[in-house]
Amino acid sequence: MRQISSISSLLILLVCTLFFVSTGFSQDAKAGEKIFKANCGACHAWDKKVSGPALQGVVDRVQPGSYGDVDGWLKAWIKDNAKVRASGDAYGNQVYNANAGLAMNAFGFLSDAQLTDLVAFLHAGPAPKVAEPGAPAAGTTEGVASEDDGDSDLWMILIVIGIATLIIVIFSGVNRSMKNVINQKQGAEIEESSSVWSAIGTWMKSHKKLSSIIGLIVVLTLAKIGWDAALGIGVYQDYAPKQPIAFPHDLHAGKNEIDCKYCHSSARISKTSGIPSANVCMNCHKAVQEGSRSGKTEINKLYAYIGWNPDSMKYTTPDGKMRTDTAIEWVKVHNLPDFVYFNHSQHVEVGKVACQKCHGEVEKMAEVKQFSELTMGWCVNCHRETEVNFAGNDYYLKIHEDAKKEFKHKKDFKFTVDKIGGLECAKCHY
Ligand code: HEC
Ligand code: HEC
Ligand code: HEC
Ligand code: HEC
Ligand code: HEC
Ligand code: HEC
Repeated sequence: MRQISSISSLLILLVCTLFFVSTGFSQDAKAGEKIFKANCGACHAWDKKVSGPALQGVVDRVQPGSYGDVDGWLKAWIKDNAKVRASGDAYGNQVYNANAGLAMNAFGFLSDAQLTDLVAFLHAGPAPKVAEPGAPAAGTTEGVASEDDGDSDLWMILIVIGIATLIIVIFSGVNRSMKNVINQKQGAEIEESSSVWSAIGTWMKSHKKLSSIIGLIVVLTLAKIGWDAALGIGVYQDYAPKQPIAFPHDLHAGKNEIDCKYCHSSARISKTSGIPSANVCMNCHKAVQEGSRSGKTEINKLYAYIGWNPDSMKYTTPDGKMRTDTAIEWVKVHNLPDFVYFNHSQHVEVGKVACQKCHGEVEKMAEVKQFSELTMGWCVNCHRETEVNFAGNDYYLKIHEDAKKEFKHKKDFKFTVDKIGGLECAKCHY
C-alpha cells in the first residue's frame, strides 16, 4: 500500500515538474515573440518576405564572421545593422544587397535581456496558434499588448490539476480495493467506494507536505495571473507606447502649425479620428527628407516602409508604386473598451469641443500620451458640466426653449449635456 501511494506521489511530482519545465523552457521565446510583434512585425514575417526577409531558418543561414557565433551576430545586427555592415561583415552586406539596399532600422534601445529573448524566438519560431477570442479584428491597429499568454497558462494549470486529480482518484481506488481484499480475508468491514472529493481529502491527509507544496505553487501561479490581469485593465492615463516611427506632434502640429484635421480628417465626419495613411505623409515627405531633431533616421524608416528611394526620388517596387503590403503599425494610445460607444464627430463637429480638451496640448508633445483618464466618471462629469452648444442648431434650439419653460423657476439653469440625455446608459453602452 505504501508503495502504491508513493508511486502516486511520484507521478504527481513528475506532472508538476513537467509543467514547470515546459513553461519555463518556452518563456524566453514567448517574451521574444512579443518583442518581435511590437518592433519587427511591420517588416518581417516568419515564413514570407515582407519588406525584410522571411526569418524562418535565419539562424541556419547567418555566417557569423568576426562575431563568433550566430547569436552574437544576430544581437549585433538587431542592435545596429549599419554598424555591422560598416565593419565589412560579408554576410550582412550580402543580405543588404539582396534586399535592394533597403535598410533595416537600429534597435539600440533593446536591452540585452530583450535581445536574448528575441534571439530565442528566432531559434524557436512562433508559438503554435491557439484560438484567440480576444484578437483584434482585422484591419485595426494592434492593442496595448496581447494578453493571451495568461489564458494559456491558466489552461496548463487546469490540465495539470485535472491529471493530478485523476491520478489521486485512480490510485485511491486501487488502494481501497487492495485494502478490501485484505479486509475481506480478515473478516473486517469493506470500505465503501468514496467520492472524488473524499478521495482527494484522504490523499491530502496522508501526503501533507506534498499537498501543501502543490497548493502553494497553484496559489502563487494563480496570484501571478490575477496580478497580470489586474494590471491589464483599468486606467491607462499617461500611457505613451513606443511607436514604429518616432512621429513628433510638436514639430508637425506645433512648430509647423499643421492643422490636426489635415491628418485626422475623419474626426469631422465619423465615429473615429483615424491615423493618416502613408500617402498623407508623402504629400510633404517626398520633399522633406530631414527633420531638425532626428535628421534622416526617422524619416528613413517611413521610406523603408513604403519602399521609397529618396535619392532617385522613385519607389523601389517593380511597378514603381508605393508598397501597400507594409502598413505602419502605429500602436494605439487610446483604447476604450468595446462596450462603450464614443463618437468623435458628435463632440468635435456638433459639440464644438476642442481636441485639446480631451487630448491635452498634443501640439507640444514629442510623443503622444493619453492625457485623460477615459473612465466613465470622466465622460459623465464633463456631460454634467458642459453646456450644449446650440448656436445654429435648430434641433437643440427647440429642446432648449422647452427646457427653459420647464425649468424657469430655477434661476441658475444651465443647458448641459445631461439635459439632452448625456447620462443615459444606452447613449454610451450598446
Ligand atoms: C523598417 C523595416 C524593418 C524592421 C522594423 C526590422 N527589420 Fe530586420 N530587416 C529589414 C530588411 C530590409 C532586412 C534586409 C537587410 C538589409 O537590407 O539591411 C532585414 C534583415 C534582418 C535580418 C537578417 C535576415 C537574413 O535573412 O539574414 C534579421 C535577423 C532581422 N532583420 C531581424 C530583425 C529583428 C529581430 C527586428 C526587430 C527588432 C527587425 N529585423 C526589424 C527590415 C526591417
Ligand atoms: C502630420 C500629421 C498629423 C498631425 C498634423 C496631427 N497628428 Fe495626431 N497623429 C498622427 C500620427 C501619424 C499618429 C500615430 C502615431 C502616434 O501615436 O504618435 C497620431 C496620433 C494621435 C493621437 C493618438 C491616437 C491613438 O493612438 O490613440 C492623438 C490623440 C492625436 N494624434 C491627436 C492630434 C491632435 C490633437 C492634433 C492637432 C493638435 C494632431 N494629432 C495633429 C499624425 C498627425
Ligand atoms: C470629448 C473628448 C474628445 C475630443 C474633443 C476629441 N477626442 Fe480624440 N479621442 C477621445 C477618446 C475617448 C478616444 C478613444 C476612442 C476609442 O478608443 O474608441 C479618442 C481617440 C482619438 C484618436 C485615436 C484613433 C481613434 O479614432 O480611435 C485620435 C487620432 C484622436 N482621438 C484625435 C482627435 C483629434 C484630432 C481631435 C480634434 C479634432 C479629437 N481627437 C477630439 C476623446 C476625444
Ligand atoms: C504638411 C506637411 C507634412 C506632413 C503631411 C507630414 N510631415 Fe513629417 N515633417 C514635416 C516637416 C516640415 C518636418 C520637419 C520638421 C522640423 O524638423 O522642423 C517633418 C519632420 C518629420 C520627421 C522627423 C522629425 C525629427 O525627428 O526631426 C518625421 C519622423 C516625420 N516628419 C514623419 C511624418 C509622418 C510619419 C507623416 C505621416 C503620418 C508625416 N511626417 C506627415 C512635414 C510634414
Ligand atoms: C470635454 C467634455 C466631454 C467629455 C470628456 C465627453 N463628452 Fe460626450 N459630449 C460632450 C458634449 C459637449 C456633447 C454634446 C454634443 C452635442 O451638442 O450634441 C456630448 C455628447 C455626447 C453624446 C451624445 C449625447 C446625446 O444625448 O445625444 C454621447 C453618446 C457622448 N457624448 C459620449 C461620451 C463618452 C462615451 C465619453 C467618454 C469616453 C464622453 N462623451 C466624454 C462633451 C464631452
Ligand atoms: C457618457 C458616457 C457614459 C454613460 C452615460 C454611461 N457610461 Fe458606463 N461607462 C462609460 C465608459 C467610458 C466606461 C469605461 C470605463 C473604463 O474603461 O474605465 C464605462 C463602464 C461601465 C461599466 C463597466 C464597469 C467598469 O468599471 O469597467 C458598467 C457596468 C457601466 N459603465 C454601466 C453603466 C450604467 C448602468 C450606466 C447608466 C446609469 C452608464 N454606464 C452610463 C461611459 C458611460
